[in-house]
Amino acid sequence: MKVFGSLRVPGDKSISHRALIFGALAEGESRVTGILESADVHSTAGVLRALGVDVPALSPDFVVRGSGRTLRRPTTELDCGNSGTTTRLMAGVVAASPFDATFVGDASLSRRPMRRVARPLEAMGARVELPPHFGLPMTIHGGTLHDVEWTSEVASAQIKSAILLAGLVAGVHARVSEPSRSRDHTEKMLEARGAALHVDGLTVTLDAGSPLRALDTVVPGDPSSASFFAGLAALARSGEIRLEHVCVNETRTGFFEQLRKMGVRVTEEGRRMEGGEWVADVVVAPRKLHAAVVAEADVPSMIDELPLLACVAARAEGVTTITGASELRVKESDRIAAVVSNLRAIGVEAEELPDGMRIQGSDRPLSGRIVTHGDHRLAMAFGVLGAARGNSIEVDDRDCVSVSYPGFWEDLASATRA
Ligand code: S3P
Repeated sequence: MKVFGSLRVPGDKSISHRALIFGALAEGESRVTGILESADVHSTAGVLRALGVDVPALSPDFVVRGSGRTLRRPTTELDCGNSGTTTRLMAGVVAASPFDATFVGDASLSRRPMRRVARPLEAMGARVELPPHFGLPMTIHGGTLHDVEWTSEVASAQIKSAILLAGLVAGVHARVSEPSRSRDHTEKMLEARGAALHVDGLTVTLDAGSPLRALDTVVPGDPSSASFFAGLAALARSGEIRLEHVCVNETRTGFFEQLRKMGVRVTEEGRRMEGGEWVADVVVAPRKLHAAVVAEADVPSMIDELPLLACVAARAEGVTTITGASELRVKESDRIAAVVSNLRAIGVEAEELPDGMRIQGSDRPLSGRIVTHGDHRLAMAFGVLGAARGNSIEVDDRDCVSVSYPGFWEDLASATRA
C-alpha cells in the first residue's frame, strides 16, 4: 500500500466542544469557523439548546449568541449521546446554575465513571445523584457554589474543565491540580477570552468573579483524527502524506512523537500560532518500524491514540509495551480488553496488562472480524491496519466513526493506493 496526497482532517473535537460552551457562556456573539460536525459535537449543541442558548444548526461558519452565564431550566433530560466531554464539562456548568438537570446518554456513556466529576462539584456545594454503578443517569441539583481547591487523582482535562467551568459560572475561586498535564485547551481558550486564570506547573487557578468575553474561534484540524493517517503512512510501503492545518498543541502530539521514536519520518511544516494554538502541516513518510515503549508519563498526550498505536505496533519489529494507561479501561469501551482481543482475533500475539498491553510485531497477513463495541477509535484504528498490504480486516460497525470523524472511510480510501 502506498500513501499519497494532502488531507485536511475535520476540526478538533475538544476545541469544538469548548468553542460552543464558552460562546454560550460569554455575553454577545462568537463566530465559530471550521467546527467538527460530528455526533459528539451535536450532543453539546443539543444540551446547550436545551438550556436555552441560541446555537444554530452546525455549519462551517456560524455564530453563537451567548447567554452571559444565565441558562434556562431544561424541560427535558440532557442527552449527551456518546460524549464524555459533553457530560463532564456541562456538569460543571449545571452545578453552578440554579436548577436541577439530569444527564443521560447511550449505553457506553452510561457505564462511564461520573464520580470523578461529581466529587469536586459536591465539594463546591452542588448535590449530585448517581446510580449505584456511578455512571448515568446523573442528576445535578445546582445552585450557589463556594471556592474549591481540588487535587485530581487522574490527569483528565474533562475533570479539570468541569471544575473551572463551575468556578467560572458561579463566580468563585477554583484551583485544580492534576498528577500530570492533560490537554490544556480550556486554559488557553479561557485566557484568550479574558478570564483571570493562572497556570503554575500542574495547577490551574481561576480567580473569583472572572470575566469571560465573546471571541471568534477558527477550529484547527484534530490531531487525533490526523493521527490515523500518520499511522497509515507508518504502515505504508512507500509514499508520503501531508496532513494540513493540524493543531500541534504539545499536550496532544504524543502519537507523532512516538512514531518518530519508532523510526517514522514525521515533520512539521509552516508551524504558526493561530487563535492561541500552534498549527502546522504534518508530513509523514514510512521508514522501517521499530517497537515502542510507552510509560505513564507519555500517556496523557496520546491517550486517544493508544488503540491506533497498538495497531501500528502489530507491524513493528519487536515487542511494544504500553503501561500506566489504566484510563483506557474507562473510555468509550474498555480499550485494553477490546484492543487486545481484537488483535488476537486477527492473528497478532498480544497480551493484556492491568494498566496496558504488550504486542508482538510481525509481518504475517492479518485477517478477521473486529468487534468495535460502538467505539469510534477502535473502528478507525483497525480500519487503518486493515488498509495495510496483505491484511483483510472486517469492522463490525463502520458507522460508529460518526462520533468524531463522519467522513473517515472516504478519506481513508482516497489516501491509499494498492
Ligand atoms: C477530552 C479529554 C480526554 C479525551 C477525550 C476528550 C476533552 O478525556 O480522552 O476524548 O476534550 O477534554 P479525559 O479528560 O477524561 O482524559
